[in-house]
Amino acid sequence: QRLSVFASGTGSNFDAMMQDEKIASSIVLLVCDKPGAAVIAKAEKSGVETLVLAPKSFSSKEEYEKVIYEKLQSLRVEWIFLAGYMRLIGETLLSHYEGRIINIHPSVLPAFPGKDAIGQAYRAGVPETGVTVHYVDEGMDTGPIIAQEKIEMIPGEAEEQLKTRIQAVEHRLYPNVIKQLTQNVTEEL
Ligand code: GRF
Repeated sequence: QRLSVFASGTGSNFDAMMQDEKIASSIVLLVCDKPGAAVIAKAEKSGVETLVLAPKSFSSKEEYEKVIYEKLQSLRVEWIFLAGYMRLIGETLLSHYEGRIINIHPSVLPAFPGKDAIGQAYRAGVPETGVTVHYVDEGMDTGPIIAQEKIEMIPGEAEEQLKTRIQAVEHRLYPNVIKQLTQNVTEEL
């Protein structure tokens, strides 16, 4: 299987994927929409090809995604895993990769979609939050859910601590789901 990761940020989830030898050897491309993002250096260091684009320099989302699609095709990429890619996927990629674009989101969807999901949950004072891995559709964090894991809020906990606990769940859950989807590994999620 040939995988690509789309990310815009620090890349801690990318790192977590790279810890798994089989996943690491399947990742053939990192797509990044933020020139200078820390995840780019991480990919380069691990020898993963990068495609870094500035969406603003394209006349439309379609033109932007066409360039990405051509690259994915040339590398025969079969799966797209979003890991902190802060942009909606458009029709061009959705139509070519139906059922093969997956996202991870730091809340128990449908609660707290969109940006700063950890902060949203923290401020809402809910008793629990967590992590969701789901198929991507045209909406914002709306596609069919593949896996979810909840964690309880700890009274008095700082938001930063909550973030650390959520990320620990992400870094375990996402590689497991990726293995299940791409390697038919039947392991407890
Ligand atoms: C993660 O919390 C992920 O769930 C969200 O964006 C964050 C990316 O973090 N979609 P990182 O760049 O992988 O550290």
